[in-house]
Amino acid sequence: MNTKRIVLKDRENPDSEQLKEPAKILREGGLVAFPTETVYGLGANALNEEAAKKIYEAKGRPSDNPLIAHIADFDDLLPLVTEVPEAGKKLMEAFWPGPLTLIFPKSSLVPYGTTGGLDTVAVRMPADPAASALIRLAGVPIAAPSANTSGRPSPTTADHVWQDMNGKIQMIVDGGAVGIGVESTIIDVSGVEPMILRPGAVTQEMASAVLGKEICLDPAIISGPLKADVRPKAPGMKYKHYAPKADLTLVEGNTEAVVSAINKMTEEKLEAGYRVGVICTDETSDLYPGGIIRSIGSRLKEESVAHNLYAVLREFDDLDADYIFSESFSRSHLGQAIMNRLTKAAGYHIIKV
Ligand code: TXA
Ligand code: MG
Repeated sequence: MNTKRIVLKDRENPDSEQLKEPAKILREGGLVAFPTETVYGLGANALNEEAAKKIYEAKGRPSDNPLIAHIADFDDLLPLVTEVPEAGKKLMEAFWPGPLTLIFPKSSLVPYGTTGGLDTVAVRMPADPAASALIRLAGVPIAAPSANTSGRPSPTTADHVWQDMNGKIQMIVDGGAVGIGVESTIIDVSGVEPMILRPGAVTQEMASAVLGKEICLDPAIISGPLKADVRPKAPGMKYKHYAPKADLTLVEGNTEAVVSAINKMTEEKLEAGYRVGVICTDETSDLYPGGIIRSIGSRLKEESVAHNLYAVLREFDDLDADYIFSESFSRSHLGQAIMNRLTKAAGYHIIKV
């Protein structure tokens, strides 16, 4: 398949003439990758089971891993769900459009091919103007997982999407780099108590403040590697997530101790003839004499760390690093999402110093 790439003239004020073609492809059951404020999505008509099937093929993703239906307007939610629980209403009012996905009981309109056989449906209203204009023009809810090959980091630029999807989908809508860089927060509001299934830019603290009480994380998020008999609420969490080609180790502790431990391990591996990468921050990048040094952002601006996270991991894959040693981050606010992705990428290999 020949993958067409169109570059948006103005992502903030998308030109509907430019979006007509991708909207038509989506409506008619084809696949189009497009930018959202979190990561690039691989879109298909969420109400068309055949279209959803194509997503699984293009990504090489297990078909029991459900998809998120993306909508452009509040009115688009009601046909997809049987009920909007009170907690869902509060969260939608506070954070939609934005980087928040909510899980509701699904209506019969949503095919099981989209929800991986579940009776619930994940819905998100992205804030990105291009995403929202495209969904509105398509006139149908758009199922969109991250636009990466299953097992690779989520794409945060159109080039990342191109690397994984060229030849497999009809079109890539190139809107430049995304803003946030990690996938949306997922909150299940279909049960008795709302629960965070995946941390993201709508943080635990932000959601708790809106709900007026502390919201819990799915225990599967905190418990580390999942045992075969544990069933996480978000089926996606049970699959081996992205793992870098290199052996990634996180080092946690006070900065001085972390830098010195990373330098020691780097030196040992370099002496043994390996290619070694170091993931550091703007504040510490001068403190590492050896290895391939990449700053992931500034500790004073955690958003910059989320923004660069996947690009840095992809770069180390391209550089064929054998070992990567990474600094760690706080586990509160946006740090929770950053550490969730980093710990999974490291296969839960953390050294405390
Ligand atoms: O930021 C995002 O959410 C991006 C952009 C493109 O919008 N999309 C995204 O989709 O990250 P994906 O497919 O890569 O991740 C969706 C996650 C999976 O872990 C899946 O298991 C979970 O959402 N999920 C989807 N529907 C669910 C449901 N009904 N119940 C529980 N988890 C669900
Ligand atoms: Mg994904």
